[in-house]
Amino acid sequence: SSAGKVIKCKAAVLWGLEQPFSIEEIEVAPPKAHEVRIKILATGICRTDNNATTGVMPAKFPVIVGHEAVGIVESIGEGVTSLKPGDKVIPLCVPQCGICSNCLKPDSNYCDMLDIVGKGVLSDGTSRFTCKGKPVYHYMNTSTFTEYTVVRDVAVAKIDAAAPPEKACLFGCAFTTGYGAAINTAKVTPGSTCAVFGLGGVGLSVIIGCKIAGASRIIGVDINPRKFEKAKAVGATECVNPKDHTKPISEVLKEMTGDSVRYTFEVTGNLDTMIDALASCHKNCGMSVVVGDPPASSVLTFDPMLVFDGRTWKGCIFGGWKPVNDLPKLVSDFMAKKFNLDELVTHILPFDKIEEGFNLLKKGESIRTVLTF
Ligand code: APR
Ligand code: ZN
Ligand code: ZN
Repeated sequence: SSAGKVIKCKAAVLWGLEQPFSIEEIEVAPPKAHEVRIKILATGICRTDNNATTGVMPAKFPVIVGHEAVGIVESIGEGVTSLKPGDKVIPLCVPQCGICSNCLKPDSNYCDMLDIVGKGVLSDGTSRFTCKGKPVYHYMNTSTFTEYTVVRDVAVAKIDAAAPPEKACLFGCAFTTGYGAAINTAKVTPGSTCAVFGLGGVGLSVIIGCKIAGASRIIGVDINPRKFEKAKAVGATECVNPKDHTKPISEVLKEMTGDSVRYTFEVTGNLDTMIDALASCHKNCGMSVVVGDPPASSVLTFDPMLVFDGRTWKGCIFGGWKPVNDLPKLVSDFMAKKFNLDELVTHILPFDKIEEGFNLLKKGESIRTVLTF
């Protein structure tokens, strides 16, 4: 077996900002204590990975990005008790150590380890990847654009062995984040009206959550009208393009609904739309949830009357789920056909075509492209 040995395999390495993904042969060291080496089966392409290539999301280079995947545990390091070789798993960008003060709070999923996993190295301060003799950094604990990766054991969810990798990988980010924002964070109520700004993989997952929660009207908002058909297929009752109107989108939504938008979701990661989404929910009993990640170190100025009047402005990470506990249940719900992810996966490409997958994202032609190995 390969346990305990260095594995040579293919990975998509980013050598610097604005560089293309370069398919390279890398070496992946065996997992150290409380680490797991995973063979990746399928991985989705998310906007956040693109943000690492542009600098909107900071990363250390060279780096292997990717954070939405399903794989099989190849080997485990010392002290790993929760996982064994052969387990089907999702590497987690949000860990759940189970013992920190936040993990012990029933209503928090901001595990203390989260601030540590973002550093680009594992717990001993080093990377398990090398390429051409140089260390290559990890990303968001996951680094899934590689045939093999090494992650911390507190950041791995074990899922149903029968789950199809090219769909279930969406539980590593898009679906979990969007669906949880509607179900856990907003707690959308039956019969309510919702508006979702940004109809990518995460936004469509918010729509699925709103629909399952029983919302009676779900309005999709996007500047790319090519996203409307998909949005309607997953449950949007109507769609609006802010570019088709001269009035602010909040006014447009107010007129469309007789001032009854109860929940809004910002799922583009733009600062302007965060304010637009806030202003678009009812001024006294509305709630707006920030789902898209804002650019690093950005500052927002807003009229405090927007919240003084009574609106609630919330955020969430990873849809508010406690990932190690909740992902297996979400995957079971998926296997039981509680929701369908077919509309979200628009393209499946072999791993080597990663650059093509990112071009589809940048051109607004894909919802999720999933790379298979
Ligand atoms: N107003 C409305 N829609 C917009 C705007 C805007 N100003 N700017 C962009 N959009 C739309 C895009 O046209 C696209 O359809 O937002 C959508 C975003 O979708 P994706 O790029 O596919 O992003 P996604 O992967 O869904 O992630 C959304 O969540 O995880 C984070 O970093 C990610 O912040 C991003 C957000
Ligand atoms: Zn993501
Ligand atoms: Zn914790």
